[in-house]
Amino acid sequence: MAYTVPKLKDFSTNALTRAFLDLKSAFQEEVAKPRSEAEWKNFRDRWMARKNGLLAQVNDLWLKAAPKEAKREVGKLVNEVKQFVEQEFEIDHGWTNTANAFSATLQTVDISLPGIRRSIDAEHPIIRTQNEIVRVFQDLGYSVAEGPVIETDYYNFEALNFPPNHPARDTQDTLFLANQESKPRREQLLLRTHTSPVQIRTMEKMKPPLRILIPGKVHRNDPPDASHSPMFHQVEGLAVDTNITFGDLKGTLDHAMKALFGSDVKTSFRPSFFPFTEPSAEMFVSCFICGGSGKRGADPCRPCKQTGWIEILGCGMVDPNVFEFVKHNGYDPENISGFAFGMGVDRIAMLKYGLDDLQLFFQGDVRFLEQFG
Ligand code: DAH
Repeated sequence: MAYTVPKLKDFSTNALTRAFLDLKSAFQEEVAKPRSEAEWKNFRDRWMARKNGLLAQVNDLWLKAAPKEAKREVGKLVNEVKQFVEQEFEIDHGWTNTANAFSATLQTVDISLPGIRRSIDAEHPIIRTQNEIVRVFQDLGYSVAEGPVIETDYYNFEALNFPPNHPARDTQDTLFLANQESKPRREQLLLRTHTSPVQIRTMEKMKPPLRILIPGKVHRNDPPDASHSPMFHQVEGLAVDTNITFGDLKGTLDHAMKALFGSDVKTSFRPSFFPFTEPSAEMFVSCFICGGSGKRGADPCRPCKQTGWIEILGCGMVDPNVFEFVKHNGYDPENISGFAFGMGVDRIAMLKYGLDDLQLFFQGDVRFLEQFG
């Protein structure tokens, strides 16, 4: 039965005390009950409403109704009742008074239970792919090197044997930092367009032999579309030692592609050109979507454009001109040789996860990203 404020006939101290104790225990029972914001509001109104709330009733039924001679004592009691109830509303009974946010469940929480583990969310599919690539080469004894995303012209171009008027050095293709016209060209800052400058930075610090893998962000002045982004990711590799040959390059990369895409894939190396390697090649893997046939059932295979081959990376033997820039640290092209390669992580991730729009990776839509959890 819900508590109601009794009419008092007896205004003796004993009777008043009993009435107060009844009210208190009724309040204490009720204050633990609300389990929603609406319930809490009802409870509060029931006691505090100016018109006909229980406190107002106490005033009417006890104080106003008291005979003259009892008024003083009843007045004191009613004040105590008010103070008690008002103080109780100040106390946090599992509710924060300000926002009235519902946290009454706190009262029934078993604090010996383990807490609710917050999900740290899914690894981004690009970072996951990057880590998979890194792992394959770590298993071959490569270590990881990193370098700055804001780079100088020297490391990004000059020390990689780019000629002064190479188109990549144009602001059409490369994002330069503003207001650097007064600086010598080699000191001008830009957003690195590839991870290759870290080859030079690492060779300046570490003597040969060297086997490193360089993951990282790169930027180019490309408007975003389904297959382009001004920011993307590369993984670069560099191996330098005495007697490194093109055979080592092919064997290493063939092994890595089988580890990444499955032991069935084949690799194909086709002549190409990069300023920092000589000879240079583009490496293709047989299409792991259609198995190299160029067809999916009766339909053409889109990822390999029906060719049965997918271009994965650029590579080559390190150009002796590049070694000249780090000769002082033991990289004399008369005595050592090396190979290098660089691949785009984003495209590999697109192929792996069957996406046709690169932008999905960068829009931060949780509904997309959660699928990789
Ligand atoms: N840096 C080249 C690019 O961004 C990729 C590349 C090609 C890296 C050949 C290399 C390499 O290390 O040997 O297109």
